[in-house]
Amino acid sequence: MPRFQAPRGTRDLLPDERAAFLRLERIAQDLATRYGYQLVETPLFEQSEVFERGVGSATDVVEKELFRVQAGRGDAERERWALRPEPTAGIVRAYVQHGMQNLPQPVRLTLTGPMFRYDRPQAGRYRQFWQFDVEAIGDAGPGIDAEIVELGARFYREAGLRDVVIRLNSIGDLACRPAYVERLRAHFVQHQDRLPPLERERLSANPLRLLDSKDAAMQPLIAAAPTITEHLCPACVEHLAGVRAHLDALGIAYRIEPRLVRGLDYYTRTAFEFFPPEVDGAQQALGGGGRYDGLVELMGGRPTPGIGFGLGLDRVVLALAAQGEQPPAPPHVAVVVTSADPADTVTRLRVATDLRAAGLAVRADLAVRKLSRQLEGAAREGAHFAVICGDEMAHGHVQVRDLEAGTQRAVDLADLERELSRAEARHRHGPA
Ligand code: HAM
Repeated sequence: MPRFQAPRGTRDLLPDERAAFLRLERIAQDLATRYGYQLVETPLFEQSEVFERGVGSATDVVEKELFRVQAGRGDAERERWALRPEPTAGIVRAYVQHGMQNLPQPVRLTLTGPMFRYDRPQAGRYRQFWQFDVEAIGDAGPGIDAEIVELGARFYREAGLRDVVIRLNSIGDLACRPAYVERLRAHFVQHQDRLPPLERERLSANPLRLLDSKDAAMQPLIAAAPTITEHLCPACVEHLAGVRAHLDALGIAYRIEPRLVRGLDYYTRTAFEFFPPEVDGAQQALGGGGRYDGLVELMGGRPTPGIGFGLGLDRVVLALAAQGEQPPAPPHVAVVVTSADPADTVTRLRVATDLRAAGLAVRADLAVRKLSRQLEGAAREGAHFAVICGDEMAHGHVQVRDLEAGTQRAVDLADLERELSRAEARHRHGPA
């Protein structure tokens, strides 16, 4: 076994898998742009407090899974930074920092990139994973809520995933949730002796989290627990009805899930998750999101509503494979430049450089080896054409071999770029 390995819970995306991710990133970017979202990037690390405040100190994501960055010397420096476990807190920090409240609202932002959580590694759960994220900040909804859910559903469809299930809930707001949380606490306190140790611990800090427990012993207690739906205030009831009316008008199917809660503290009202079909208890969400009407204020801005989602790309790749989908082939060069003289790598590199400058995807064979070996290499790589430089270059010609058809002809050097571009277009799209 090699001495060095990728850290546990991380993996290298080798060309095949990277191509699958790139395809998803392009779909994400193209879709988000069509919906009016603008690309941003925020740092991969932030002050830890951005996550402690934003995501919440009593969440697993902050309490157990934050990658704290040790940098600098003094103790003061030690706990200051953390790798982002999710992008929303950082994007909202940027929104406040750059005065985006003064722009026309809502501000629609999107980002796709790696996130870091010190999770227990297993299939679909990594310590570094990728999310496609969108955030619409400055619109209280409910139309935008439906627009975002529909955007998520369309992403999965365009990616090729069939029958993704949308689960929707309202988790209330500051007017109604505190009273509900107390009722929930009272319910679980009644059954305290039946709670597993971890859930008992959570009960004091964050009773809502118990609804998300996968522990079998918890399931009857969860089924008997009061639901938030029965305890929403009139404004939250109206908001949820508005979201549903918009989704219904768009023909988007969803399931109301009164026990759906999210793992991050900033959510208010609308909460939703996307699941692969045939959801069983242990199934992982493909993506999730919701409204966070108090987050901008928590980050030091004026009270401003917001909503967004994060869709896990690793899980989409896995779900596509489970569905039997073939991943896209990684791109390869169309043309390999070879020469009859085994030693003449200079000419090959020069010709290849000129062709690349003209926009073609070209590799120069830079090995000192016989022409037959150079051509074999080109065919193995899946290149469509080989340019063969030989003595006729003195008369302004090279040979171009169609590696699939096995045919070969002389081409004037002055026409080479145009001929290859044309031939390559024919190859890609078929004869005109
Ligand atoms: P989240 O539900 O914590 O929400 O994560 C969103 C998605 O990221 C999950 O549904 C899952 O697909 C993926 N994910 C999370 N953890 C892992 C992991 N360890 N390995 C692989 N994939 C993972 C958020 O992060 C919110 N920021 C979403 C949001 C945006 N809400 C409002 N705006």
